[in-house]
Amino acid sequence: MALLHGGQLQQMATRYQVPVDEWLDLSTGIAPLSYPIPAVPLHYWQQLPQLAPHLNLAARDYYQCQNILVTNGSQSIIKALPNLWRQYNQQSNKVYLPAKGYKEHEHAWASAGYNICYYHDELPAKTDLSEHCVLVVINPNNPTGKLFTQTEICQYQKTIKEINGLMVVDEAFMDVIEPDQSITSFVNNTDHHTLVLRSFGKFFGLAGIRIGFLITSDYWQRAFSEHLGPWQVNGPAQYIAELALKDKIWQQQQRENLHQLRLQQEALLRDVLGSEIIAEVVSTNLFITLSFNQLVIAKLLHELLCKLGIYVRLTDEQTSLRFGITTKANFPRLVDALLQAKIQLKK
Ligand SMILES: Cc1ncc(COP(=O)(O)O)c(C=O)c1O
Repeated sequence: MALLHGGQLQQMATRYQVPVDEWLDLSTGIAPLSYPIPAVPLHYWQQLPQLAPHLNLAARDYYQCQNILVTNGSQSIIKALPNLWRQYNQQSNKVYLPAKGYKEHEHAWASAGYNICYYHDELPAKTDLSEHCVLVVINPNNPTGKLFTQTEICQYQKTIKEINGLMVVDEAFMDVIEPDQSITSFVNNTDHHTLVLRSFGKFFGLAGIRIGFLITSDYWQRAFSEHLGPWQVNGPAQYIAELALKDKIWQQQQRENLHQLRLQQEALLRDVLGSEIIAEVVSTNLFITLSFNQLVIAKLLHELLCKLGIYVRLTDEQTSLRFGITTKANFPRLVDALLQAKIQLKK
């Protein structure tokens, strides 16, 4: 069954009878400011996608890694991985997953028949990890914001290798973390026990062009290429991503803008809702997750905001709300809706 995600605006429009273009969509962790789309040379539209050595070079530089596979989003790797891993290691049947986090990981491993073990805030103890197991870490976690340091992750990387397991590090939101805690530069060509996933769409604000990256060994690069087949990433997406990955000035500006917007939006949420409603705020520069003094508030507030055309993400546990970052122009509308919802909550 398809999972519920943010960004399902069409369904929300039908459900709440609010036209699609009247929503303020804060339901995803996609940057509200996008890399400016350049004029794309005609041949990128006319021809089949070609091998893209320049994109590959730009990606290796941006992600600081030796080996990279360009894909049409990290989601395609998440889905294909369990069966490919089974072909590689038939003795593996156990996966450790974060209890809260992007559910497509769980969906993929469970669908392939693996036994799932959940861990909560901290990673499972290294001594508890069984031979051949898989450890999935979403770093930083979406929606909890939990971040493990590069040093911690590298320690697990070593253990997992020793027990012939697999470590999957999903760094979809890593671009906004400072100082950088990515482990991309610690993955070498001969390490068949680590896969790092990177999303392009979130930080560059271009989720629609569907592009993502896998950082791993030659072996896995070949295995996934073979499995996914040709023409995974369309030519215009390759062209745009190459420019964006090389544009260090824009990237720096984007980091600064997102940071400022996050600070302001977080202050706004705290001011309007106040500590009588909000229990905890966790955030990265791409989303802000609120939990509340009463569990039921998340669901109620979600409903009230949706009725006002503000679409935020109710977490799978229905105990928190995740707000994507928006631009200043939308702050007044957000404040207004929150004030109205707050009055309703008090009734
Ligand atoms: C943590 C995480 N990983 C991976 C993905 C997949 O993103 P993409 O396929 O665009 O790279 C998402 C999408 O929301 C996500 O939240």
